Amino acid sequence: MKTWATVLAVIAAGALGCGLRPAAAQTKASAKSFDIIDWNGGKFLYGVDYYPEHWPESRWEQDAAMMQAAGINFVRLAEFAWVKMEPAEGQFDFAWLDRALKVLNAHGIKAVLGTPTASPPAWLYAKYPDIAAMDENGVRYRFGSRRNYCLHNPNFIAATQRIVTAMAMHYRNHPGVIGWQIDNELGDPICYDPNCRAAFQRWCRSKFKTLDGLNKAWGTIFWGHTYTSWSEIPLPWNTLFHAHNPSLALDHRRFHSESTRDYLKLQADLLRKLTPGKAITHNDMGLYDNYPMFGEDYSNSLGVGLAHDLMRGSKGNQNFMVMEQEGGLPGWNTFWGRQAAPGLFRTWAYQGVAHGADGICYFRWRTSRYGMEQYWQGILDQDSYPNARYQVVSQTGKELAQLADLLKGSKVVSPVALLVSPDSRWAFHIQPLVKDFDYNRQLGLYYAGFRRAGVSVDVVFPESDFSSYKILVAPSLFVTDQKLVGKLTDFVKNGGTLILTYRSGVKDEHNVVTNQTLPGPLAELAGIEIHDFDPHTNQQQEVAGPDGVGRPARVWFDILTPTTAMPVLSYSKGYYAGKAAMSANRFGQGRVYYVGTELTAEACLEGAKREARGLGIPLGPELPQGVEYAARVKDGKRILFLLNYTEKPQSVILGEAWRNALTGEPEPAEVNIPAFDVKVLVNP
Ligand code: GLA
Repeated sequence: MKTWATVLAVIAAGALGCGLRPAAAQTKASAKSFDIIDWNGGKFLYGVDYYPEHWPESRWEQDAAMMQAAGINFVRLAEFAWVKMEPAEGQFDFAWLDRALKVLNAHGIKAVLGTPTASPPAWLYAKYPDIAAMDENGVRYRFGSRRNYCLHNPNFIAATQRIVTAMAMHYRNHPGVIGWQIDNELGDPICYDPNCRAAFQRWCRSKFKTLDGLNKAWGTIFWGHTYTSWSEIPLPWNTLFHAHNPSLALDHRRFHSESTRDYLKLQADLLRKLTPGKAITHNDMGLYDNYPMFGEDYSNSLGVGLAHDLMRGSKGNQNFMVMEQEGGLPGWNTFWGRQAAPGLFRTWAYQGVAHGADGICYFRWRTSRYGMEQYWQGILDQDSYPNARYQVVSQTGKELAQLADLLKGSKVVSPVALLVSPDSRWAFHIQPLVKDFDYNRQLGLYYAGFRRAGVSVDVVFPESDFSSYKILVAPSLFVTDQKLVGKLTDFVKNGGTLILTYRSGVKDEHNVVTNQTLPGPLAELAGIEIHDFDPHTNQQQEVAGPDGVGRPARVWFDILTPTTAMPVLSYSKGYYAGKAAMSANRFGQGRVYYVGTELTAEACLEGAKREARGLGIPLGPELPQGVEYAARVKDGKRILFLLNYTEKPQSVILGEAWRNALTGEPEPAEVNIPAFDVKVLVNP
């Protein structure tokens, strides 16, 4: 299961920037000066995930030649090859990997090596069965899948240090190895074994110092769950009715996130020390490794855009790399995703670039003949035929090589930021709101509103600096603390526009409900009070503004009583018909909107346009459905990307004259984008 918020919090907490940075330049200041495109000799990093150990050595040369012909200049290797590199405890064999590197390097292809800890060998489980994670019923997962380990198991930590050290020492001076990927899609599973329980108890002790402090913060007086010794503190495991104290459960999420971060840091510290000069990255899961046809909404290019922006945000808005870009039909043992038109494999690569990627790595070079992923297509099928996907990937490789100089040093610049709160997301996971509520969808709605209006959006976190933005959208900001409220207040006082939505300000940092009038610590800022709310059950609600036009509303209805705010929309139905559903409040130099319900995508687009216009933020062109408009900026000039995800040609009217960055030709005012194609445009 993919739980991006776990790793997101790990990264937001600063353990490691996503994407690549040189190991020697991990501080914020120096990381800024690092350009991914400089990292492989000024080339756009264009790669594939390659598993030479799955194929006869006699095939490697032909693979490398085909990669080179497609413009591939790096491969990710070895992230599941622990048993090949350490076939028995403490005995190492890198000869096969050396040979593979030699073949690849001879074709100008460098390598990012994966530390293989996501896939420990069978012999390790046989010798130390307790390295396997334990489920909440107290049963250890059996050997057979991957990522099955306990982060607090001393034997697993020792084995990690041994393999990472051995790899680092062997490849520290290898010119064909440009960096490391640590583990693979960190985050799961959560382990409930005695080591993890003891570690959680230590974590609680270090956080709360006294049991009295913990008991008060968690409200353990409820049901008389007061702890009288640290050793009584449980994990949120298999209880009757799955009942857990939400405060304990949120702290447990934080504990797991920090444990994951510490594990990542353990490896990162070793690699930095032993291989200075090599870069370090990770392939974050869910919203980062990029499989558009695997999600629930296959056509949701905006969702993919949000995923890219979220990852750029986790690096403090620096450019990033996509370590796994969909290279073929996704499918596991028991299910299939959807096949994409070959052209989309190029359009998606450009979409990553448009959102700030300076490197794209396709998963995988060739579909496996073996194991769980026989259905998960690579670029090539098992027969290695240079199929349509290979042709498209080759075209893309040539183009990105051509665009490297133009792209170098350019970045996404956004007037709007979307505040993602991992604490709120976890809290909603622990206590789901109503069946229809989805925190990610809330993010997506407002994100899509601005993006469809042609306005770039950055993703920020509670720790980020908000001061450069004109608009900050904080959907369903359920969990807050004083520090965050102070930052939001300063942002608005200094002229920012803040958009809050329903169920904001409900919980304190311990996941305890506020005893202030809702929206709690945000009430003064929003200029409203909420004395009643209506979780949507079966009524069709509508909201209307001064124009009297009804707009559908759903999921949740906060019934607002404006204090200093003005009503913007009111409910049309039910016992609270006529009461405010949305408000606007002037505060300091800025303004706060509170949207007490879930509006439609069209209403969010309409609102985004109106607000951007009002603040002098330029809007993009009118866009046909299925066409994306995005921009990177370099030396004050924009590089435009028009991406057509549909099977029909589309056209977009741009007000100014633009030149095609690939052909050098001027584009007409009405730019035509063929089906599944892309236009990259620069000012003449
Ligand atoms: C993830 C993993 C890869 C591979 C792909 C496809 O993203 O990181 O190793 O398993 O999914 O299943």
